[in-house]
Amino acid sequence: MGAMTATATAPANIAFIKFWGKRDAKLNIPYNDSISMNLSNCQTETSVEIDPKLKIDEIRVNGEEVQGGKRERVILVLEEARRLAGSKHLAKVESKNNFPTGAGIASSASGFSALALAASWAYGLKLSPREVSKLARLGSGSACRSIPDGFTYWKKGTNHDSSYAVQFAPVGYWEIRDIVTVVATEAKKSSSTEGHALANTSPYFGVRLKKLPNRLSLMRKAIREKNWVVFGETLEEEAVDLHVMAMTSRPPVFYWNEGTIAVMQSLRSWRDEGLMGYFTMDAGANVHVMSLERDAAEIERRLKQIPEVKFTIMNKPAAGARLL
Ligand code: PMV
Repeated sequence: MGAMTATATAPANIAFIKFWGKRDAKLNIPYNDSISMNLSNCQTETSVEIDPKLKIDEIRVNGEEVQGGKRERVILVLEEARRLAGSKHLAKVESKNNFPTGAGIASSASGFSALALAASWAYGLKLSPREVSKLARLGSGSACRSIPDGFTYWKKGTNHDSSYAVQFAPVGYWEIRDIVTVVATEAKKSSSTEGHALANTSPYFGVRLKKLPNRLSLMRKAIREKNWVVFGETLEEEAVDLHVMAMTSRPPVFYWNEGTIAVMQSLRSWRDEGLMGYFTMDAGANVHVMSLERDAAEIERRLKQIPEVKFTIMNKPAAGARLL
């Protein structure tokens, strides 16, 4: 096989029902199903070039050589692609984000989904979307949800073969927006990997798991019926539960800062005026403000006036990973 190159672009996603805690930490098998939406303005472009002359994999993100745990996770994905292709050739990986990296905006989902798709093509594999989703999951669990288009559903499964994401609703299904509201730009002190590992040390871990089947079906129904209020209330409940677990794990992790609280409280008071924005957060201080298209511009304008808000990124539902 001669040198082969493939380039893919993929979106980050925001989970409405979250992945928190790993049943299998090596394979990133979750305890529960999750639901998310792909984000139009948080994208990663990754190219993979196979080069028989390489002695080690060369991995760069935004021009900088990647080291440590992140490098190991990239190599996990490359190794699986090589195993499937029966290839021993190493690769050069170049990745760039169109949004600030390490700004508490998840780049792992967009990064690993773009990597999985590009690597599968570079190694000459013709994988189905399900197989690419499984490959992406090995790098970062949430990345498996960035493979299908639009709104996606990750079936937790029990092993590598049964844990992958499928489409729940297409891109144009519901005109909702995610206004990423950045209140902290420094790199997080505690990664989501650490958070996952601590999840089941919280006494509320089991409590949430018990509530989840009901919450998942409520969320699915809210999306099916486009019921904005049920969607928003379920979204916020789930986000708060994730942070309650983090704050009560051993050791505890506090992701919020004063900006997080300011945004949450502003949304509450704007709702009293009929402006219906709802919040969710991942393992960080930044807030994803979900809104209907009709309210999005006004909510964004007001968010920008909150002193703790550094900047915002307006997102529509987006396609999943694509080959360029
Ligand atoms: O894919 P990971 O390991 O970065 O975990 C993602 C964790 C959350 O963002 C907090 C939740 C989610 O489902 O995206």
